[in-house]
Amino acid sequence: MVESVSSGPLPRYHQLKEVIRDRIRRGEWSPGDLIPSERELCERYGISRMTARQSITELVSEGLLYREQGKGTFVSRTKIAQQLLRLTGFTEDMRAREQRPGAKVLSAEMWPADDAAAERLRIKVGQPVYRLRRLRLADSEPLALETSCINFIGCERLLDYNLEQHSLYHLLDATFDVPLLEADQELEADLAGELESGLLEVAIGSPVLRTRRVTITRRNQPVEFATSVYRGDTYRFYTRMVRDQR
Ligand code: GLP
Repeated sequence: MVESVSSGPLPRYHQLKEVIRDRIRRGEWSPGDLIPSERELCERYGISRMTARQSITELVSEGLLYREQGKGTFVSRTKIAQQLLRLTGFTEDMRAREQRPGAKVLSAEMWPADDAAAERLRIKVGQPVYRLRRLRLADSEPLALETSCINFIGCERLLDYNLEQHSLYHLLDATFDVPLLEADQELEADLAGELESGLLEVAIGSPVLRTRRVTITRRNQPVEFATSVYRGDTYRFYTRMVRDQR
């Protein structure tokens, strides 16, 4: 158990980082808890303000803590790891983690495909596709913003379903007989804009992960073009790579 900060061989900021890490590991400080201020840490461990600040700053950049302007520094929650090996939807991912999936529908409409959607879905610009914009929740907490453009013959029938209560992937597979076979997905880092920060309940400029997915059905036909914005503090993506055998 690491409890004190002394003039040992390790730099003091490093020792304080270990003290904080240890408290979190032991569950003394839980995700979402406010940790003591820099001033309190200085007093408690007899260290300078600069040392306290350096420890906190490093733990923030490592993702263990996060700062909220005017409020203080908090313990981050464990990130949701989304595997990139199997094609799954949000509902399945959350159920696998024993979290309650949820959705708030921001809009559901027939919408004329723009250049990006037309290119990915291999249709003409302006062709109507079903477009669904949802805020995705896990245990009622906002995690991601998703816009899915769906194209197949009869896709307008999706308008009859309430996508707050249904899984889109389940509907396509089971009700519409549009099996989802594979997907190409791109992933990039970005910062939350004004609208996104409001919906995802993070500060403007917070880190987010953007993904673009094209999902394929039978006969190699693209059926979904989805763009998603995930909160950088709650999501981690992982994949496994196999080296070519020579
Ligand atoms: C993921 C994908 C989206 C997809 C969604 C379906 O989050 N990024 O492209 O539309 O899952 O989720 P559900 O089946 O829960 O509606």
